[in-house]
Amino acid sequence: MKKSALQKARAAYQPKLPIVLTGPVKVVEGAATQSAADQEEIKKLFPNTYGLPEIKFEKGQAHPAKPINVGVILSGGQAPGGHNVMCGIFEGIKKVKRESRLCAFLLSTGGFVDHQYVELTSAVINEYRNTGGFDIIGSGRTKLEKKEQFDKGLEILRELKISALVIIGGDDSNTNAAILAEYYKSIDAGVQVIGCRKTIDGDLKNDVIEASFGFDTATKVYSEVIGNIQRDCNSAKKYWHFIKLMGRSASHIALECALQCQPNCCIISEEVEQKNMSLQDVVDYIADIVATRANYGNNFGSVLVPEGLIEFIPSIKALIAELNDLLAAKGAEFAATENKKKFVVDNLSPEAARIYSSLPDSVAKQLTLDRDPHGNVQVSLIETEKLLSEMVARRLEEMRAEGRYNGKFAALHHFFGYEGRCADPSNFDADYCYALGFNASCLIAAGVTGYMSSIRGLVKPSVQWVPGGIPITMLFNMERRHGEMKPVIQKALVNLDGKPFKKFAEQRDDWATHTLYLYPGPIQYFGPAEVCDQPTLTLRYEHPKH
Ligand code: FBP
Repeated sequence: MKKSALQKARAAYQPKLPIVLTGPVKVVEGAATQSAADQEEIKKLFPNTYGLPEIKFEKGQAHPAKPINVGVILSGGQAPGGHNVMCGIFEGIKKVKRESRLCAFLLSTGGFVDHQYVELTSAVINEYRNTGGFDIIGSGRTKLEKKEQFDKGLEILRELKISALVIIGGDDSNTNAAILAEYYKSIDAGVQVIGCRKTIDGDLKNDVIEASFGFDTATKVYSEVIGNIQRDCNSAKKYWHFIKLMGRSASHIALECALQCQPNCCIISEEVEQKNMSLQDVVDYIADIVATRANYGNNFGSVLVPEGLIEFIPSIKALIAELNDLLAAKGAEFAATENKKKFVVDNLSPEAARIYSSLPDSVAKQLTLDRDPHGNVQVSLIETEKLLSEMVARRLEEMRAEGRYNGKFAALHHFFGYEGRCADPSNFDADYCYALGFNASCLIAAGVTGYMSSIRGLVKPSVQWVPGGIPITMLFNMERRHGEMKPVIQKALVNLDGKPFKKFAEQRDDWATHTLYLYPGPIQYFGPAEVCDQPTLTLRYEHPKH
C-alpha cells in the first residue's frame, strides 16, 4: 500500500496504555449488579449472565497461561479507532502467549454466520495501526439475533478453535453480544463473548460508560470544517450555512460541535421534544435569529442541525410511526404504486396526511425510504437542513411583509457525517481504542463472558485510566421493538440538565446575536498535549477532574 507522509509518521505512534495494563493484572470484583430497569424480566431472560459483578483490573502476579484464539467482528457504522481496538486485542493476546491467534470475520456478522474470515498477523496489524475506517475487514449491519445464526457461528468458532469472540459495535451490537454470551453459556459452548462500545453518535454512555469511541475524532473533524465555514462566512458576509450533523437520534455531536465552534444557532432535538415544539416553532426560532442579525447588518451566519431532529418534532414523530406501520403492512403495495405520495396520503390519518402533504416532495419521499435492519428511519438520508432553510426563507418573506425584517437571505447546505467517521483517530481515540482492545484480552484471559470492555477516568492522562469490565446485562431495560418487548441497552440522549447542554444554553443568545465564532482547526497528532490530547468538551464538562 502506498502511504502519505502523515500515514508513515502516524504508523510509528505507539498508543499509550493505562499503566495498570502494562504488566500482569489481577481481577478485583465489585458487588453484584442489576439491570438499569425491568430487573425481574431481564433476570429471567439471562439466567446465566445476569447480576455479575463489575470488574476492575489491578496490578497482579504473572501466571503460566495457555494460548487463546479469539474471533473479532466489527459491526455497524464506521468509527475512528476500530483498527486500534484490533491492534490492542492482538497485542494483548500475544502478551498472554505468543502462539495466541486472532481471526477477524469479514463484513461484520455476515462473515461470522457465513464462515468468511481472515487471520490477522502482525504484518496486517502494523499496516492498520492508528488508521481510520474499518477497511481491515469491512463492516455491515446484518443483525445477529437468531439461534440458527448463533449455531452457524459456533461451527466456525469450533473449527478455528476459537474460545472467545469480541463484538465491536453500538448499542444494538452490544445487546446482541449479551444475548450470544447467554446462549453460549446456556449450552456450555465454551465460548466467551466480550462487547466493545463503538459509535461516533456518542449515545452509548451512562453512569459506568463515559464515552463510546469515535465520538472524539468525528466531532473534531466536523468542528474543524464548521470553523472553516464560519471563517468563510465571516469573510464574505453573504451566506447562511445550514449544516446537518450525523448522530442518529441523539444530538451529542451537534452539541459538542456547538461548544467547539460557537455558531449562531444550534438546534438540540431533545430540547425541541421537551418543549413540544412544532416544525414551525423551530423555523420561527431560526428566522428570528436571522432577522436580529440582519438588524445589525449581518446577513450571514451558521445553523447546526442534528440529523435526528425530524424524529423529535412530536407531530412528525407521530407521522413517522404511522408511516412505519403503513410500510410494514403494505410495503409491497407501496413499492408497486406509481403515485406514491397519493398512496401514502390516502392511507394515513387526516392529521398525519395533512403534515405529510405540507412537506416538500423530496423530504416526503425521504421519509418513506427503506428502514435500516434495526427498524430505524435512515435519518442521514433526510435533508432536514434544506427543509429548514426553505421554510425559514418563506417565514422571512412573511416577516418582511409585516415590516419586521429587512435583510438578504441566501442559504447554503452541508451535511457532515461520512467524512468524519473514517478519519485517522485522534490521539485520544487512538489510545482509548488500543486500551479497550488490550483490556478485552485481559477480560478474556480472566475467563469472563457477557462483559463489555471498560476504560474509565478518561479526562485524566491515558496512563492513569482505569481498566475493567461491565456486565452488559447491567445496561439493559425492556423496550418495544417491532411490536415486541425486548431487552436493549438504553440509548443516551442529550441530558438537558447536564453540564454540556447548560454551558451551551447559557451562551447561545450571545452567539446568536454577535459573531463569536471559534476556529478549532484540524486534529493535531504531534505537538503539545493541550493541542493534541484534549478530550471533547462534552467529556470534560461531564467528568470534571477532581
Ligand atoms: P452506528 O450507530 O452503527 O454507530 O452508526 C452511526 C451512524 O454514523 C449514524 O450517525 C448515522 O445515522 C448512520 O450511522 C448512517 O448509517 P449508514 O452507515 O448505514 O449510512
